[in-house]
Amino acid sequence: MTVLVTGGAGFIGSNFIFHQLEAHPEDRIVCLDKLTYAGNLSTLQSVMDHPSFRFVKADICDREAVDRLFEEEHPDIVVNFAAESHVDRSIENPGIFLETNIMGTAALMDACRKFGVTRFHQVSTDEVYGDLPLDRPDLLFTETTPLHTSSPYSSSKAGADLLVMAYYRTYHLPCTISRCSNNYGPYQFPEKLIPLMIANALNDKPLPVYGEGKNVRDWLYVEDHCKAIDLIIRKGRVGEVYNIGGHNEMANIDIVRLICRELGKPESLITYVGDRKGHDLRYAIDPAKIHGELGWLPETMFADGIRKTIRWYLDHKSWWEEIISGEYQTYYERMYGNR
Ligand code: NAD
Ligand code: TYD
Repeated sequence: MTVLVTGGAGFIGSNFIFHQLEAHPEDRIVCLDKLTYAGNLSTLQSVMDHPSFRFVKADICDREAVDRLFEEEHPDIVVNFAAESHVDRSIENPGIFLETNIMGTAALMDACRKFGVTRFHQVSTDEVYGDLPLDRPDLLFTETTPLHTSSPYSSSKAGADLLVMAYYRTYHLPCTISRCSNNYGPYQFPEKLIPLMIANALNDKPLPVYGEGKNVRDWLYVEDHCKAIDLIIRKGRVGEVYNIGGHNEMANIDIVRLICRELGKPESLITYVGDRKGHDLRYAIDPAKIHGELGWLPETMFADGIRKTIRWYLDHKSWWEEIISGEYQTYYERMYGNR
């Protein structure tokens, strides 16, 4: 079987490729990635020469390039990770989010219709449900929670989800969607909360906490997300949405304090900065459906996962130091300079 993984040079896609090559050595994996600022070929270095792996640099919005690849590879399964993924960037410049996340998903699904696949899987996010109040811990996102987005990022992901369901109903494209909570782990781009705080703390730089740091996210170790997607694409029911999350809600400030403790850095590095516009208060996933139907449960507890992640960033300094020495500096200045 051939699995086409789009966005595989990014954080979750690369972890998914590593997992697939190990868990399904009989399958061929083809990665299509545009290599935007968030895509990094050095992440895939260890598998570039793998006999079951091929990397192709292309844009999912480029219909000719996508069709050419389908003609060559005839993928059985397509897993779409390719996206613009950072909320703060979407607030600055929504256009590219609409382009990649919506139009790109449509281009991929049109190729799936034209060439035929057994599954198109859309990697979505819990952010499509909007946010939950901080004072109602009993409320969780289920698959039937209405879509109610806050940011250009989440709106573009919700737009793609609606389109996926339309392609399922109208053209009977065999689709599934997964909506996962916040991921953490190796190879996450250091613009996101956890790797940004680790990198800054290691460089003794201020740790910029938005607002009062009380916003809550539901954290899942990336490998657990990859295992869930693997189950969905092989055993999940077409036309279905599956929420993925491990009941691990934490306030941002508690994560930042934990990182300080683990690295032996003073909490005086913590700096409260202006809040994100439209900042979602709380995300929390109810994973009962994927647990009941597919037997999925998270395997890595947060206390272990965060230590493994910190260890990884300590052991792979050259990976992130190279990133933060480039264009990232201009981004950082723009985003945090006058905050
Ligand atoms: P990422 O930003 O680390 O990686 C995105 C990858 O997509 C990069 O390799 C980039 O080069 C590639 N890409 C971007 N535009 C492209 C295009 N037009 N054509 C081809 N490739 C393109 O993102 P991530 O954190 O790995 O997220 C992957 C997916 O998972 C996204 O769809 C995101 O919405 C979703 N998701 C992420 C999280 C999270 O916590 N990171 C949680 C839930 C869902
Ligand atoms: P992020 O990693 O951007 O993920 P998302 O916004 O998709 O959940 O942010 C996680 C939380 O951390 C979010 O509430 C915003 C907050 N945050 C900060 O307080 N400071 C930062 O520098 C960043 C990047 C995020």
